Amino acid sequence: MRIVFAKPVFPKKGALVLGVKENRVMLSMTVEADSESGGLLKQAMSASRFTGKGHQTLTVFTSLGRIVLYGIGTGKSIDTLWCEKAGSNIQAALAGSGETEVSVVFEGHEGSPEGIEARAAHLGYGALLNSYRFDKYRTKEKKDDKPTLSKITVMVDGHVKARNHFADLRAIAQGVFLTRDLVSEPPNVLYPVSYSDRLKELKRDGLKVQVLGEREMTKLGMGALLGVGQGSARESKIVVMQWNGSKRGEPPVAFVGKGVCFDTGGISLKPAGGMEDMKWDMGGSAVVSGLMKVLAGRKAKVNAVGVVGLVENMPDGNAQRPGDVVTSMSGQTIEIINTDAEGRLVLADALWYTLKRFKPKFMIDLATLTGAMMVSLGQVNCGYFANDDELSDRMAEAGEAVGEGIWRMPLGDEYNKMMDSDIADMKNAGPRYGGSITAACFLERFVDNCPWSHMDIAGMAWSSMDKPTVPKGGTGWGVRLLNHLVKAHYEG
Ligand code: BES
Ligand code: MN
Ligand code: ZN
Repeated sequence: MRIVFAKPVFPKKGALVLGVKENRVMLSMTVEADSESGGLLKQAMSASRFTGKGHQTLTVFTSLGRIVLYGIGTGKSIDTLWCEKAGSNIQAALAGSGETEVSVVFEGHEGSPEGIEARAAHLGYGALLNSYRFDKYRTKEKKDDKPTLSKITVMVDGHVKARNHFADLRAIAQGVFLTRDLVSEPPNVLYPVSYSDRLKELKRDGLKVQVLGEREMTKLGMGALLGVGQGSARESKIVVMQWNGSKRGEPPVAFVGKGVCFDTGGISLKPAGGMEDMKWDMGGSAVVSGLMKVLAGRKAKVNAVGVVGLVENMPDGNAQRPGDVVTSMSGQTIEIINTDAEGRLVLADALWYTLKRFKPKFMIDLATLTGAMMVSLGQVNCGYFANDDELSDRMAEAGEAVGEGIWRMPLGDEYNKMMDSDIADMKNAGPRYGGSITAACFLERFVDNCPWSHMDIAGMAWSSMDKPTVPKGGTGWGVRLLNHLVKAHYEG
């Protein structure tokens, strides 16, 4: 999808989107178009329920071509998130309409803290994010079912400023798209080796990318991560991505992702129904990868490191057993109670490795860690845990700013104790109740005193429903939030 910015003028071709305020009050270009078309727009409005309420639309065919009237309400509550939703709706309305291009006239919005140029840029951004499709495996889609829309022109006074503002947003969208691609990819195509090969391609974006194989991980003593992968025919990997946009020696911010390319549960096998969903059990690692691409893409003035643990959790003659005791890189031993509680084992070594090698300012891990988190918060908010209030507050603010909601969950000794084992330092699965919290307490044992947060994105990584700016499939949820967090507090 091409997104361009231009001065407001009536276009020679393509569809046209024009604004209408509440009570059918037309904006100035809308008034002009109405008189050009012999009053057709006014007529169409009074013949329909369209009144100009926020996000209402009405399509009218006129001598000027297809015109979509777009409701902007009072025009006063229009912020960047509102504009993203509008851009997304416009893209959705016209994607398969037969139109190849559309011009959106952006005028008459008052009272928002952001400048009109920024908001116009976010309209283009919303349209771009919603235009994403994962269609590489469809060979038989009919031409008539394919989207036609390929270009959106956002028309705004100050279009040059809008275009400049859009550059960073485009970089963010590209990161989000990488995350969505990785999450949607089937597990016979995306497995630790092919995944790490794909991440090596991020060198072209300016990232330093390093891959550790089982030999290196064995040397490092990563018994927790390696135990998970030992039932798989495919070699486990850790990929380290670095972006150095700040001073040498400045400690980095660190992001750590669970990359279970497929989670069968291992010997503690999952039931068959819905097991195909476990291809997206690498969602956390995909957010980390997408985020690193964004930071490089917009040349963020920050040192950042992304570490992803890539494994496949399979049942096999060589698979790990319930009852096994493994030794993690930290030296702490873990009794395996349930081989399906594998994500925390991968993260235990990935977190410890990140901590020791990089001594980061903070670590945030992302993981599709527990079904219990979906029970708690559904697919609306992401539950997160933190051992540091400043980091926690900054994350919540970032979520609010980009429209990705997060909800803080508790840690604590009483929960933590539930992970004690009778024969080792800890066990990998506790009682059923509070399962997301005890999982977080397990992870906390691998971060020492580093400011840390764990985001359990089990409910967020995948959506079976289209939502504004997020088509169904892999969502890319979290990339925008973490990018905002970095930008607001850790750059320069
Ligand atoms: N990947 C799953 C969690 C999950 C389930 C994510 C459904 C998204 C949708 C994780 O590895 C897992 O199996 N967790 C277990 C932990 C339990 C065995 C302690 C769970 O949630 O049941
Ligand atoms: Mn599992
Ligand atoms: Zn899992």
